[in-house]
Amino acid sequence: MAQKDKTKWDKKYNETPSLLEKREPSKKLIEILDKVKGKKTLDVACGAGRNSIYLATKGFDVDAMDISQVALDELDKKGFENISTKLVDLDEYEIPKNSYDLIVMTNFLNRKLIPKLSNALKINGILFIETYMEDKDNEKPPSNPDFLLKKDELKSFFNEEFEVLDYDEFFNESYELYRMKKQAITIKKL
Ligand SMILES: C[S@@+](CC[C@H](N)C(=O)[O-])C[C@H]1O[C@@H](n2cnc3c(N)ncnc32)[C@H](O)[C@@H]1O
Repeated sequence: MAQKDKTKWDKKYNETPSLLEKREPSKKLIEILDKVKGKKTLDVACGAGRNSIYLATKGFDVDAMDISQVALDELDKKGFENISTKLVDLDEYEIPKNSYDLIVMTNFLNRKLIPKLSNALKINGILFIETYMEDKDNEKPPSNPDFLLKKDELKSFFNEEFEVLDYDEFFNESYELYRMKKQAITIKKL
């Protein structure tokens, strides 16, 4: 486990408890759910589980993975039988192949993980990624510029074995702390 990342994120959640409070799920994720054919879901770097919770209420069975025990404890407290939390370092964890009907990764970017997520999808499975991208009007500079996507970047990760069902670049919702540009892609494994 990357102890440095774990310590950083546990500290962040302990020092800013508002990050653990109930938060809205991704609007775009809600919009694409009708394209998902099964229930088995992975929420990558789930945090306190805003998306996991929404998906669980819609009947999905969610594996919710994160490096912060503080965030996962908060999610466990909610007591959803169909959310299974797992403390993992996604830099190292081997995600089982051909296993998920839906994989969600929001507000988190690890480029090396994207091919592993593609492998973890079942045939006809859906991968939804939504995170921040470069833009001159972004209100908050990133702690590391590598954490921001370049224009059109998400499309570059997928070959002809995948169909892009939806792609968008847009400014984030007004309830988020800073106005930031985001990129979202929904792909299907053929
Ligand atoms: C900004 S939060 C996003 C949470 C959630 N996906 C959302 O959209 O609200 C980023 C999350 O990534 C997790 N994280 C950071 N590095 C990680 C790693 N190497 N493995 C697993 N999770 C990690 C953090 O603990 C944190 O909960």
